[in-house]
This record gives sequence, C-alpha cells and structure tokens, in this order.
Amino acid sequence: MDRQGNIVILTGAGISAESGLRTFRAEDGLWEDHRVEDVATPQAFRRDPDLVQRFYDERRANILAAEPNAAHRALARLDAEWPQDGSGSLLIVTQNIDDLHERAGASRVLHMHGEGLAVWCTACDARHSWHGTLRDDPPCPSCGETALRPDIVWFGEMPYRMEEIFAALSRADLFVSIGTSGAVYPAAGFVQQASGHGARTLELNLDRSAGSQWFDETRLGPASELVPQWVDEVLGRAGA
Ligand code: OAD
Repeated sequence: MDRQGNIVILTGAGISAESGLRTFRAEDGLWEDHRVEDVATPQAFRRDPDLVQRFYDERRANILAAEPNAAHRALARLDAEWPQDGSGSLLIVTQNIDDLHERAGASRVLHMHGEGLAVWCTACDARHSWHGTLRDDPPCPSCGETALRPDIVWFGEMPYRMEEIFAALSRADLFVSIGTSGAVYPAAGFVQQASGHGARTLELNLDRSAGSQWFDETRLGPASELVPQWVDEVLGRAGA
C-alpha cells in the first residue's frame, strides 16, 4: 500500500472488548435492568441523577482497571510512525470514553463521545480530569458548586469536534472502521462521507456490522489480531 496518504480511523467499543470493557450491543445490553439508552441521556440524568452517576462511577472504575491491548498498541505504533505534513496525516476518531488509545501511546486521538475520566461542571463550564466518584456530589474544583456531570456525550446531545472530523473525512485517502456496530449516527455515516470524497474504506470487526455494505473491504476477526496485521501492511512490513 502507498505509504503516503491521509488516514482517518474510527474506533468503537469492539477495540476495547479484549481489554475487558463491555461493548454496548453484545449480550443483553442491560445494566442493573436498565437499557444503556435509558441511562445515557440528559432526561435520565434529570429524572434520576444518582442512577446515572452510579452507572458512570462504575464505568470510570472499569476504565482505570483496564489495560490497552494489542490493537491499541498497533494504532499507537502507526500514530508514531505516520507523517503529519504535506505527505500524509492521521486521525484516530474514537467513540470510546476510555483512555486506552492514549495509554498505549497514541496522541492523535479525538474523543467524539467525550471522556469517562473527565467531568464537566454545568455551573461554571470547567472541565477536569477525574478518577473518583460523582455519586457523592463532590464540589467543582473551580467554582465549588455541586454541579459536576461526566464529560460524556449522551444520546440527544451533539458529539464533540464534528467540524474537525468532517474536514479530516473530506481529505481522507483511507478510512478504517474498527470494532463498531455502525448503529449510532453520526459516526455510522462516516464511511459514506469518506467514500463520497474518494477514500478507500476498510472495516475491521468481529461480525458484519449494520454498515458493512458501504465498505470496499471488510475483514472479520478480533481486533487484537486484525489491527496489528493491518498496521504492518500499512507500514510496509507485511510478512516481516
Ligand atoms: P457496539 O457495542 O454497538 O458495537 C461493538 C462492535 O464491536 C460490534 O460490531 C462487535 O461485533 C464488535 N466487536 C466485539 N468484540 C470485538 C473484538 N474483540 N474485535 C473486534 N470487534 C469486536 O459499540 P459501538 O459501535 O462503539 O455511545 O457503539 C457506538 C456508541 O453507542 C457508543 O459510543 C455509545 C453507545 O451507545 C454513547 O455513549 C454516546
């Protein structure tokens, strides 16, 4: 494959599954008998803030206990070696709220659905890194109000940094989707955006996703195997 080029990578829960973080649509998809879609909304937070804070307190603890896997490490290697100048660029857009891309060493990462290890104060608009709990209603480190919520994009809210993402998709030579079911927009539509602008499109996923038909190529298998293989190919080291 040509070493030059603009690459946009979209990751979803499947890339962190082998790190022990549950995907959304596997198994019964329930948490304490609630559908995730009924917890991850502004309405749910207004109705029962304690329930929503406990849900994210649990997820924060799970993120802190998880470790990056071979797929995160392979993308970090690509990030370290791929150019960022006239000859090429790279952007990892993740729907995941974990920090496993960063802990593996990647830096060109954009969290379109927010970050599980960050909080947002709805009183003063400050954002802080956060490893503790929120169900005990701690004060904002900036203003002292008890108005902290997880810095997560809930259903019905606008994903972060969409202009940057669409600009990168419009320039992409290659779009790769890893471990996402293609069930949630706008991320599910990125493949069509990219291919509409002339990018080649590749899907790496355990099962065929809702959007498989839109990709030029789909490879099925676990991310910890498919992603390192693909990164070796891109860096021209296949079989090395
Ligand atoms: P899903 O749970 O919908 O999909 C995970 C995908 O990963 C599925 O297609 C699985 O087949 C695949 N998968 C599972 N294990 C895998 C493995 N080891 N290797 C490769 N693929 C694997 O998760 P997302 O598509 O990320 O949004 O969900 C999108 C959004 O819906 C999430 O960001 C979240 C959720 O509601 C918000 O919280 C706003």
